Parts: sequence; C-alpha cells; structure tokens
Amino acid sequence: MNDSKNKIRKKSSKLKAPELKIEIAEVFRPLLSEAHRIKFYYGGRGGGKSYAFADSLLLLGRQRKLFIACLREIQDSIKDSVYKLLCDRISTWGLNDYKIFENKIENTITKTRFVFKGLRDQDVNNIKSLEGVDIAWIEEAQTITKKSWNILNPTIRKDGSEIWISMNREEENDPLWVLVGSKPDERTLVCKVNYYDNPFCPQELKLQAEKCKQESPEDYEHIWLGEPVRQSNYKLISSSLVRDAFILKMSSSTSPLVIGLDIARFGDDKTSFCFRRGRLCLGFESYSKLDNVEVANLATNIIRSQRPHRLFMDIGGQGAGVYDILKDRGFGEIIRGVYFGEKALNEERYFNRRAEMWDEVRQWLSSKPEVQLPADEELLDDLTSVNKKYDRRGRLQLEEKDEIKKRLGRSPDRGDALALTFAEPVYDDGEPRIYGNGRLTYNDLFNNNSKRRIEW
Ligand SMILES: Nc1ncnc2c1ncn2[C@@H]1O[C@H](COP(=O)(O)OP(=O)(O)OP(=O)(O)O)[C@@H](O)[C@H]1O
Ligand SMILES: [Mg+2]
Repeated sequence: MNDSKNKIRKKSSKLKAPELKIEIAEVFRPLLSEAHRIKFYYGGRGGGKSYAFADSLLLLGRQRKLFIACLREIQDSIKDSVYKLLCDRISTWGLNDYKIFENKIENTITKTRFVFKGLRDQDVNNIKSLEGVDIAWIEEAQTITKKSWNILNPTIRKDGSEIWISMNREEENDPLWVLVGSKPDERTLVCKVNYYDNPFCPQELKLQAEKCKQESPEDYEHIWLGEPVRQSNYKLISSSLVRDAFILKMSSSTSPLVIGLDIARFGDDKTSFCFRRGRLCLGFESYSKLDNVEVANLATNIIRSQRPHRLFMDIGGQGAGVYDILKDRGFGEIIRGVYFGEKALNEERYFNRRAEMWDEVRQWLSSKPEVQLPADEELLDDLTSVNKKYDRRGRLQLEEKDEIKKRLGRSPDRGDALALTFAEPVYDDGEPRIYGNGRLTYNDLFNNNSKRRIEW
C-alpha cells in the first residue's frame, strides 16, 4: 500500500514542470504574490502590462490548475486577443508543459486552461461558461462598456477569483475607470505603470517617448503617461467661448428675430424656445409636459406677438404634429421644420443636420464682433455638453444624444433650441441699418453687393 503511494508520489514529482526563473518587474509582483479581487493596472504605452500579465498567468498556471479567461470588448477572431502574446511568451521561456490549440492553451501537467472571448458577443447563456473562472484578464479595458462590466463582474463568482485589468486610458470617463479604477475599494489594487517603470522597455520606445515629449507635451501625456485625452479636445464648444459670450456687451439688436423651437421627446425633456437677433441671443423659454396643441398655442402667441422672420422647429417625433397645426393656422411662411438626423446642407463637412447646426453655434460664438448670450450656468452646461468626433469621411459628427443625456443628466434642450436658430441662413430684406453690437452696419457686413444676405 505504502509502496504504491510512493510510486504515485514519484510519478507526480516527475510530472512537475521544470522550475523556471521568469523575471517579473517589481511593480507587477502583486500579480503573483497578493490576493485582490481586482488588480487594475493602467498607464501609457510600453509600461510592460501585457507582458507582465501574460508571464504571471503562465507562471501561476504552472503551479496549480486554473481556469483563465482572456477577455476584451470585441474579439472578431483569436488574432485580436492576447493568444499570440501568450504563445510567444511560452516559446520565449520554452514552457513545454503548455500545449497550444487553435483557440485555447492548456497546461498538460496542471490542466490549467486559457480561453479567449469578446464580451460584446456574449449572451447570458454564453457568459455562464465563465462562472468557473479563477482569473479573468481584461485587456484593452478602456474599450469595455458599462454593460459588459455589469454582466461580467457577477459572472466571475468563484470564491477567490480575481479580475485583472490592463488599460491605457482613453477618455476622462472610460467606463471601467469610472466604475473601478477611480474609486478602488479595499479589495481592489490600482497601480499606474509607465514606460519608465518597465525595466525591459526597448530603447526604441524610450526614444519615441522622448521625441514626443519635446514635440507635443499633450500627446506625450496621453500616449506615454497614460493620461486621458483632455475632455476639451473632444468638446465641440469650450467653456471659455461660452463665458466670453456671457459678458455684457449689448442689450438690443435690430437684426431680424429668429426663433428655434426644440420640442420635448421624452417625459423629462423640456420644450424650449430660443430667441435670437443676429449676434444677440435674447433668451429662452422652457416648458415641461406640454401636448402638441399646447405647444402649438404657445408658438402661435409668440409668432403673433413677436413677429419673427423665421421659426425653426425640430420635427423629429412629436414636433411633426405641432408643425402641422401651425401650418394649418397659416404660419407656413414663417415656420420651417428640421430633422436633426437629416443630411446636412453641406454634406461634405457634416455628418448630419444636427452636427451642422451645432457647429454654426460654435462658429457664431468664435466670430467677431463678439456675441451675447444670457449669462446662465445651465445654458453653459448645455452648450459644453456635446462631444464631437469625425466619421470615416472626416465629417464632423456629434456624439449620440443618449450619451450626452447620461453625462448631463438631461437633454441639452436649450442648446438644441439655439442650434435650431442656425438651421438655415435667414435673409433680412430690410434696408441697411445698424447691426449687432452697433459698431457694424449692414454694408460693412455684406459689402453692399447683395440685397439679401445671410444675417449672422
Ligand atoms: N518581461 C519582459 N521581457 C522582455 N521584454 C519585455 C518584458 N516586458 C515588457 N517588455 C518589453 O516592453 C515592451 C512594452 O511592454 P508591453 O507591451 O507589455 O507594454 P504595455 O504596458 O502593455 O503597453 P502597450 O502594449 O500599450 O504598448 C514590449 O514590447 C517588450 O519589448
Ligand atoms: Mg499592451
């Protein structure tokens, strides 16, 4: 009996993987030696995160049986994953105890198993297969959505299981940064690591980093120091532009009155009117919970009393009904319907009408002579809430309204109403007269060639 036990012992000791001294940089030691529910490493390029995570997992997987899931937001093919890096490290270290399959890696001795998955493709049933995971490694974690995290975190439920996160921060509000990295609890280790912390950092990368530091400190901070891209780079309209427009410079204008009407789409949104005369935005009126007829009645009273040259209204959703009523009441000459989603007047430059109108607001705010907005912090929040991006054709596009709503906690209704006042050029058919802040005449603005010109 004893003999056979001995034999087994002998056999298993023979099977033990050869001891190897794999060097792990100091900053990554906790991966191997400390237990934390979440290990969150972030920083710029070349910090050694991917290599250290791969090496540490391969090491741990040789010591005991582990089920390791290598995850990312999107994985169209195994080539997108860390599979290749793991294969390379296995080969570098000569880890013959690892067997490489087409879409998984196994340790022949400990039976450790690595699988590779994209989180976005996981439905509830699929994700269940991850319940037994000991270590989940989320690579490129800056792209992970809140939805994916909320599904994944409770799926990794085995006692003692860990989630390892490696991230190069992209934006101020990367979901995993907001949810995990920015406010670590006692079970979370957060560690920043940059190229200068990486003892294995190739000279080439160091040279690139230095060059970038000299040429573009802002890019250096993002690419090499792992700082998020400054939000202002994404913002269509900066706070300083809006604040400049708050400074009092004029209180009246003889430019024609243009009204923008943004009609609430959802319960909490507000129906907002914006009143603008050339370079002067006179103000806003906002209303909650109105039905079509009530909005139409308000608009009717406003048109009758204020006699605008034009009233632009959003006719996506409920607005179409209001438009019909106003048209039926004989205001067809004054009102114009606009779909935010429709193609821009200048299709080469703008993704859609919404981007075009909002960019008109930006240009209006940036142009001289200066413009005037009513000083109001909520308006400032509305106008600076919109982030821009560019589509494949390089056209300006705005971030989805839902995203803005999430951040702002409401729709930028008044910003939309102001943007609507720029839907189309409005022509002034009157005689030359004092414009804007009183320093400019019609002739100055429109060089006297044309009788009917854009008025802003
Ligand atoms: N243990 C190691 N042994 C040898 N070289 C290493 C090791 N760790 C890192 N390196 C070198 O450092 C470089 C950067 O490491 P790694 O790719 O892991 O960085 P990172 O933090 O993931 O950043 P990113 O992938 O965004 O550039 C690697 O390309 C490799 O040349
Ligand atoms: Mg990496």
